[in-house]
Amino acid sequence: MSQDSAFLLSPQPRARWMRVDTAQLLKRFFFCERSLLVSEAAWIPAIAPLEIKTSLARFIWQSAETAHALRDRVFELRFPSRLLEEEGADHALIEIFRGVKDSPSDPAFLLSVGKVLLPALHDSYQAYLEGSDSIADGPTHRFLSLALSEKAEQMSAFEQWAELALSRNPELRADALAWTKAVANRLSDVGGVGVGPSPSADAAGPLPGSKTYAIPARPARDPRFWPCRFYWPDVVDPTCPYGEGMQLQLRSAISHLNEVWAIEAGGVILSAFADSLPWEWIHNSARWTYDESRHCRMGYERLIAWGLEPAEIPLGTYIYESASGEDPIFLLGMLYFFETKNIRHKPARAQLFHAYGDTVSEHDMDFDWADETMHAGYGKHWLKELLVIRGQDPAAYDQVRERCEQLVSDYVSTATAQEVADLKKVAGALMTKAARRS
Ligand SMILES: [Fe+2]
Ligand SMILES: [Fe+2]
Repeated sequence: MSQDSAFLLSPQPRARWMRVDTAQLLKRFFFCERSLLVSEAAWIPAIAPLEIKTSLARFIWQSAETAHALRDRVFELRFPSRLLEEEGADHALIEIFRGVKDSPSDPAFLLSVGKVLLPALHDSYQAYLEGSDSIADGPTHRFLSLALSEKAEQMSAFEQWAELALSRNPELRADALAWTKAVANRLSDVGGVGVGPSPSADAAGPLPGSKTYAIPARPARDPRFWPCRFYWPDVVDPTCPYGEGMQLQLRSAISHLNEVWAIEAGGVILSAFADSLPWEWIHNSARWTYDESRHCRMGYERLIAWGLEPAEIPLGTYIYESASGEDPIFLLGMLYFFETKNIRHKPARAQLFHAYGDTVSEHDMDFDWADETMHAGYGKHWLKELLVIRGQDPAAYDQVRERCEQLVSDYVSTATAQEVADLKKVAGALMTKAARRS
């Protein structure tokens, strides 16, 4: 205790940050997570390996959950809500997290996020947890400890993916390293993420070597699978039945795997509308994108467990490509169209799988049905909100859905006779192989 004061004084580290200082730091973390996840979402279609697409979707959801908890906590700390909508003095820092969306290549994106941005967040969360008060700020400690462990997992995944991407495209290594260095330099110029005061640096414009992001016209596909546009004969030939028995088991797993398009659509629309719709949009669409990645994995795991090889399994692109070059509202519309079209079949199919004794298909379909029920609500709500901010009639959401149906049928009509014949051969071979194994 201090001897030269009339008061009870004991310097304690836990009083390092006052309430408003704490809110300022958490607000900074919120904006970093927000911009990071928007950049990650935008890259999903451009990166080919299925495992990266599905894991990116999960990481985006983790970031969205962390950002949501941060945002709530800042409100709880009675930080003026009007200030929560502004990046303020952290603007130059947040610009860097936004800037990796304009990475020049997929290895450059993976490397800069994995080697610079994720470690910066990781170390800042660690410093925050060490420097803050677990009594006064206990609620933050719980979710930020979880975020810290998630960041460690994300870092190691991104590092492996970057190495994989570089080993496949060695000619991109020099550029990717230069880009990563540029991101690291810019971050150090603004003082890092950290737990110090905001540097109030001015945003310095685009990073050297950046390439303005454009929504990919075609989604990259994992080369392990049989590449195609249309992934099952009934898509292009209405006389082909969806099937029953073993054919239904296979068809349903193929559908689930091919929900890869929905992960990509989710990522694109999350990013496209991030700045025009409120935070809830990002929070909902991150969850939506993650759910689609779980549906995709459900199909993959079932097909592989049945002894089928990726090279024999069709992985298509047609739904994403049906909306290619269109306003991204139609990718949102595609999700809404397919979800509302298919949801009514799901309980009946789960029942059939139950009758076959195929518990895993039943289990997956039943969980999928619950997710899709939630998604149909997202689709309708956000289509309406988007129309409202565009000054259009929100009731026109059904017209967006109808236009999507038209876009898909126009695109399906471009299937060539050769394409249909090849697809029937591959689907037939898959069914024959499955029948031999059963
Ligand atoms: Fe789905
Ligand atoms: Fe869905």
